[in-house]
Amino acid sequence: MTYENVILDKEDNLATLYINRPKAMNALNRETLLDIKAVLMDVKNDSDVKTLIITGSGEKAFVAGADIAYMHNLSVSEARAFSQLGQDVFRMIELMEKPVIAAINGFALGGGCELAMACDIRLAAEHAVFGQPEVGLGVIPGYGGTQRLARLVGEGRAKELIFTGDTIKTPEAYRIGLVNHVYPGSELMDQAKKLAGKIARQAPLAVGYSKTAVGKGLQVDIDTGIGMESDLFGMCFATEDQKEGMKAFMEKRKPDFKTK
Ligand code: HXC
Repeated sequence: MTYENVILDKEDNLATLYINRPKAMNALNRETLLDIKAVLMDVKNDSDVKTLIITGSGEKAFVAGADIAYMHNLSVSEARAFSQLGQDVFRMIELMEKPVIAAINGFALGGGCELAMACDIRLAAEHAVFGQPEVGLGVIPGYGGTQRLARLVGEGRAKELIFTGDTIKTPEAYRIGLVNHVYPGSELMDQAKKLAGKIARQAPLAVGYSKTAVGKGLQVDIDTGIGMESDLFGMCFATEDQKEGMKAFMEKRKPDFKTK
């Protein structure tokens, strides 16, 4: 399947989604969001794929935001629908039981920063730039940025970034916990693939259950969260992977997980 605004590449157990609108710094319009949605459905249903990397085509931009040219004449109801579409697509990333790694290869502004924040793990090139510059355009972050930035870096830092529209470079993004690791641009994709490979060698269902436990747990009180955790822990014992993982340990060999 080919898409107009994104490229989907599959290799072994890894899928890589490139946001591909070079003329507009990979900015997100409606069609691009729908392409991303189609790719997420594909990846979710493809039992061969264990991890997904999301990155931007080219070296300058991950995603420079939602498409301003597309947005500038929207009505109130159209703007709300455009916000909801992006929110729904990004939520699919969080709800999918497969790990999603953002390889941030350049500008991650507005909707681009919001896309990165919906991913599970963020790796950034040294030259990447982050920010929520929406207030400078007379709008607010609308793809979950007001919610996820505060959860990731804390309320005070999130409010300062959002109220000022300031951009920050990768070292500062790393310092405040917005990204997990920093690499030279030339190494970024190799490092993302290495991380994806490491995760792919673990028991796939257990990785998926962990994602669910952490994600859902962050939205509830601790007692509900640990209740979910023990339910999911129990469910692991209905899997072949648990039997193989523990048997391999006892037999002093590497596990061979068959689950897809
Ligand atoms: C549409 C964009 C764009 C965007 C860049 N372009 N960002 N088009 N929407 N978000 C286009 C430019 O218009 C230009 O097209 C081409 O990409 C190259 O960009 P330049 O500005 O010439 O490049 P450069 O000088 O290197 O500056 C890069 C940049 C700057 C710093 C990333 O382009 C920029 O500030 N972009 C906007 C960033 C932003 O404000 N993002 C938040 C958007 S609001 P032409 O045709 O002139 O060559 C948002 C809301 C999310 O994201 C929630 C929605 C519900």
